[in-house]
Amino acid sequence: MAFPYNDKVLEHFRNPRNVGRLEDADGKATEGSPACGDMVSVNIKVDPATHKITDIKFESYGCASNIATGSIITEMAKGKTLEEAKKITWKEASEELGGLPAIKVHCSVLAVEGLRAAIQNYEEKHGLVTNRVDTTEDVVLKRLKKVMNPLKGLDMVATNLVKEIEVKDGVVRLVIDMPEDHQFSAAIKEEVREKIEPLWDVKKVQIGFTE
Ligand code: FES
Repeated sequence: MAFPYNDKVLEHFRNPRNVGRLEDADGKATEGSPACGDMVSVNIKVDPATHKITDIKFESYGCASNIATGSIITEMAKGKTLEEAKKITWKEASEELGGLPAIKVHCSVLAVEGLRAAIQNYEEKHGLVTNRVDTTEDVVLKRLKKVMNPLKGLDMVATNLVKEIEVKDGVVRLVIDMPEDHQFSAAIKEEVREKIEPLWDVKKVQIGFTE
């Protein structure tokens, strides 16, 4: 059977550009794909005066398509302003790679969502969000749908890990349905913090466990 990938995709998969993390990232995000349970993390450095992306790195826990798309979008985004980088679509990324198999569309969507979420994280942390909505339980729940449960390969809402959510006076209180000493509890807690803390009106995030 012939490889379903063209040479450019294979080249980016074998030698991905901009892999890793940035120690002093200005914006970062990890996004999970509900379609396959894979994840991608994107870190960006931003020039505060021009809002240009001066450096960008990604880590993929996904397939070859995801790695190749992560590689190409980091190349496409570097040097662009946040506004320009936000407009990069999975279609453009896929075209830049010379095409991906149709069944692999969600992998490039995941990489592009990772980039957009890192930009959003920067904007939230720096008060650049223009259409501010108040944080409610629904807003929190929507964000938690982006946190993967590594045990199941699905998000933590779909796998019933969220036992309680309360939002009051800028304090978000959450109870996660797992033992605190579980092997993944610390990682999940950190990811939840990363997703909720940057919301503009959140002052504090309190995370508890059921056991
Ligand atoms: Fe999961 Fe490609 S199959 S990212």
